[in-house]
Amino acid sequence: MHDLVPLSIPHISGNEWKYIKDCLDTGWVSSVGSYVDQFEQKVSQYVGTDYGVATVNGTAALHLSLLACGVQPGDEVIAPAFTFIAPINAIHYCGAKPVFIGSDSNTLSLDVNRVHTFLSEECVKRDGDLYNKQTGQKISAILPVHIFGHPVDMAPLNEIATEYGLPIIEDASESLGSEYREKKTGSLSTVACFSFNGNKIITCGGGGMATTSQESLANHIRHLSTQANKKPFEYEHDEVGYNYRLTNIQAALGVAQLEQLDAFIEIKRNNAALYRQLLAEIPKVDLVWEEPWAKSNFWLCTLLVPSVDRKPLMEYLLAHNVQVRPAWKLMHTLPMYQECQVYGMEETEAVFERCISIPSSVQLNSEDIKYVVRCIKNYFDQS
Ligand SMILES: Cc1ncc(COP(=O)(O)O)c(C=O)c1O
Repeated sequence: MHDLVPLSIPHISGNEWKYIKDCLDTGWVSSVGSYVDQFEQKVSQYVGTDYGVATVNGTAALHLSLLACGVQPGDEVIAPAFTFIAPINAIHYCGAKPVFIGSDSNTLSLDVNRVHTFLSEECVKRDGDLYNKQTGQKISAILPVHIFGHPVDMAPLNEIATEYGLPIIEDASESLGSEYREKKTGSLSTVACFSFNGNKIITCGGGGMATTSQESLANHIRHLSTQANKKPFEYEHDEVGYNYRLTNIQAALGVAQLEQLDAFIEIKRNNAALYRQLLAEIPKVDLVWEEPWAKSNFWLCTLLVPSVDRKPLMEYLLAHNVQVRPAWKLMHTLPMYQECQVYGMEETEAVFERCISIPSSVQLNSEDIKYVVRCIKNYFDQS
């Protein structure tokens, strides 16, 4: 049997030990330190924004970004149903509700045309704000997610957001290094959020960051992340805050990982191209690919297969040491969110039934990829 071919595991091959040892040697292990500052500067510079605020994880970055953008209890936020649950939970933490809009069948990310029709046909402007005709609630933000690393079509989405006066909180957790029309995801909206969880393209073990070019937003997010303490040592807290800061040890890991990011992206893009070339010989299988205007980091390569084959193919691959996983359950099918409004979801439901994410770790070599594709081919040959 071939060794396990992992889905998406950390690749620790640079200065990680050195920088973490430095934290331990100097005693700067907690939520203040030079690696936190460096990490914030380097990620925001890489992405192309003026500010970065490091957080304990990506979910915390989303929570604070929504709050700082003014999302209030009772408001509604436009979001995809096809996503990992974190951004939807973050909306809920604010006391707001998601309105689920269908996704684009190519990018698997928020369908911008559907967002436009929803806002123009199902909402009404009143006193400078936008209200959902069905629920009567205020729409206060749009939260697109760059699924599996593939950018959302951000230019028309930004036009829509400007037309309706809504901030965009961009969930770039999976898309560090991906580009939309030659600009990095994370620089394309009011504020963006990243995750440095262990399964992401680079990791801090756990960690996150909000990036923005608006100074006041960055300051507010930072303030909220440190218990909203206005005057350190005087304990003057001026609103409800959170303990959401990243530690210096985690940031040290992040700085070392960031030094390797471009190399990781090159490997992942080459591996995706090889998958695509080899999979072309299997008629029932498509690989989710980047749009002409996008350059994806291919965080997770994802197959579209006939829905009847999804489960048995996954079982076959797992039995052959190929680590795969299905797409997340659609958010409106989960008990906490099944009362939320859903718009234009028909195609998304069909696509969800067809998705399998396949091994995409940086460590994979061409032999691993050939093995994975051989297993997929064997499954279809015998079924
Ligand atoms: C799309 C998306 N958003 C948010 C998150 C949350 O990040 P974290 O796990 O760092 O809280 C993740 C991943 O974990 C994600 O994939």
